[in-house]
Amino acid sequence: MKRTIASVLTFAALIFGGLIGNALAQTSAPVPATGERVATGERVATAAASAPVKLTLPVKEGSVRFLVIGDTGTGTIQQQELSDVMLRYRQAFPYEFVLMLGDNMYGGEKPADFKLKFENVYKQLLDDKVKFYATLGNHDESNQRFYEQFNMNGEEFYRFTKGGVAFYSLNSNYMDKRQVKWLEDELAKDTSEWKIMFMHHPPYSSGGKHGSSSGLREVVEPIFLKYGVNAVFAGHEHFYERVKPQKGIYYFISGAGGKLRSGDVKKGSPLTEKAFDTDMSFMLLEVAGDELHFQVISRTGETVDSGVLTKQQKKPNTLNTSNLTVIPIR
Ligand SMILES: [Fe+2]
Repeated sequence: MKRTIASVLTFAALIFGGLIGNALAQTSAPVPATGERVATGERVATAAASAPVKLTLPVKEGSVRFLVIGDTGTGTIQQQELSDVMLRYRQAFPYEFVLMLGDNMYGGEKPADFKLKFENVYKQLLDDKVKFYATLGNHDESNQRFYEQFNMNGEEFYRFTKGGVAFYSLNSNYMDKRQVKWLEDELAKDTSEWKIMFMHHPPYSSGGKHGSSSGLREVVEPIFLKYGVNAVFAGHEHFYERVKPQKGIYYFISGAGGKLRSGDVKKGSPLTEKAFDTDMSFMLLEVAGDELHFQVISRTGETVDSGVLTKQQKKPNTLNTSNLTVIPIR
């Protein structure tokens, strides 16, 4: 009798426990933000995965090499496919680190989401000790700053250097007085050869949905000019755009690392030097002496933009403004 009761209790516990376990699994299971198929970390057998690598970058000795990608955090198969191309290019161009331009996590931000939308997708790069430096987008919780693999050291805005290049990650969600003071204080004592900003919202953009973040620009642009910032990388827009130099500063948008807003770049925009909005993409960058080399590659392995920009010649507080383009403030 005792045995029968014990068996019934055990059976009930198994059923009940299983139901609870299932319920927990269902409520905590991450889902990709877009797309139907989920990235698994497996290499994807697509045409892009075998497309030839055609590097335009010089790979000079002692140069600073990095990758830029934005708006990644979907966990979709397309994000994975782009990651596979990133990985293949690393064999020809051994970049040391990656700048993430925000919206690193769409939707949930549980540990399982970080696994689905980041760790699985970039597993091989992480295994190869490539460091990712994140900035916060409008979809990101501030607590991402404590996630070790984003290398933010618990800060919403921070600076690090590689060779003669200083990188500043700004929190463009809240450009408050505290951040502005920190930025000015850091730039005032910064003797680096290159000063590069990365943030989520683009001060200049030809996007139809968002466009230029003009309020942000009003705050940061005078500081960039005053202290001789050379280049700015932003995301938010789900396409690639190389903006014509604005008051002497180079601006890039690279926000199609996990999402695409096809056809969103306004045709004939006076801002656009080059744009690509028909597939996802990432950027490869190489700083060598006074030159900034760049190559932009799509999910299908096509090079959609490439070139070299020369470091701006300037004296303190006098960046060249001769190529100023007049932009209507939105
Ligand atoms: Fe965004």
